[in-house]
Amino acid sequence: MTYDTIILGAGAAGMMCAAHAGGRTLVVDHAKNPGEKIRISGGGRCNFTNMHAEPGNFLSQNPHFCKSALARYTQWDFIEMVGQNGIAWHEKTLGQLFCDGSSKQIIAMLVSEMERAGAELWLQTSVVEIAKTENGYHVTLEREGKRQVTIARNLVLATGGKSIPKMGATGLAYDIARQFDIPVTETRPALVPFTFPEGRFKPLAGIATPVRLSNARTSFDEALLFTHRGLSGPAVLQLSSYWREGEEIHVNLDPEATLYDALRTQRQQSGRKALTTELSNHLPARLVDALKTDIPLDGNLADQSDAKLQTLCAALSDWRLTPSGTEGYRTAEVTLGGIDTNALSSRTMEVTSVPGLYVIGEAVDVTGWLGGFNFQWAWSSGHAAGTAI
Ligand code: FDA
Repeated sequence: MTYDTIILGAGAAGMMCAAHAGGRTLVVDHAKNPGEKIRISGGGRCNFTNMHAEPGNFLSQNPHFCKSALARYTQWDFIEMVGQNGIAWHEKTLGQLFCDGSSKQIIAMLVSEMERAGAELWLQTSVVEIAKTENGYHVTLEREGKRQVTIARNLVLATGGKSIPKMGATGLAYDIARQFDIPVTETRPALVPFTFPEGRFKPLAGIATPVRLSNARTSFDEALLFTHRGLSGPAVLQLSSYWREGEEIHVNLDPEATLYDALRTQRQQSGRKALTTELSNHLPARLVDALKTDIPLDGNLADQSDAKLQTLCAALSDWRLTPSGTEGYRTAEVTLGGIDTNALSSRTMEVTSVPGLYVIGEAVDVTGWLGGFNFQWAWSSGHAAGTAI
């Protein structure tokens, strides 16, 4: 069977590409349903983009690469598409947009856009072999126990990254890249919780508190969540993309720097109050209790000199911890790294050394922050390839 374009992967990027590609398109996926990650994203409401999306929200060995695609298909373009499809949405926080109803609405929208563009969708289909010949790409597929060779001028790799193998993630795009001598940068789990030695934060599991979390290179002001295995929450997921094994992280439990003044005021008004009691008005009580092992918190407020309060606030604003690792691809929201952007055209996402071969979405070495940025990259890069085909 002959097509103009075969797209491997019916996820966010693949469906977006199919919706914009001209000619005869076949979209192939080994999963039972398209867009499984869209379905589970944003707690079932899909954080489908971010109003503040800009190139600075993306990590890549070449931070300029994402600019072209993001500029030509912006968050406002996707918001318009969502609006035209009658999907109600709201901003949750920090420009993060979610469906009012369900993430399934986004999948339904993309499926209907693909249908409108005339694309065929083959699910539960696996890729057996790919060969490039003079008349295009010969892709051997296995479907319902039968093998068939499909041929197309264009082949789009949209099979995503390695995160969450249980959901069907595979390294297929990287394997195909290697077959065509396309470089792949180091891949690592990102947007992923930190782990600590067994039991380290067990008594604090479930506590969330606003922090400034930093390492030597960057910092994020968001919530931190203690878990049975270690640390999670938006601040941790964000920092994990910038973290390397063995590195110390700095937790600032007083990100607004209001604690010193507050403690001094209270010392004047209620000097007989225990320091820990007053601290529990600013931090979760269970956390204050646990901090006692690391930081001296004895006595009443009246016992605390200005110097003592300063030392205390300095300690609380620079609590140093060294994660033992991360939860890995088992729970990582994305894969950092991927197909080297040096090999791709930033305008079309085509591999410059292999005409007709395109790579889009998470498979590319472009990784967004938490907050709708990764889907925006999938939409923008999918649109760039789709309109170029
Ligand atoms: P995606 O993973 O969506 O699609 C790849 C497709 O290829 C899948 O359908 C898969 O089945 C298929 N495939 C893989 N290997 C194959 C093979 N060997 N043969 C055939 N098919 C194959 N981002 C965001 O912006 N906002 C959010 O709210 C969230 N939330 C979120 C929650 C969770 C739990 C996760 C794991 C991830 C997120 N993300 C997110 C990240 C986001 O889901 C991700 O960046 C995009 O889905 C990437 O889109 P792609 O189309 O590149 O890959």
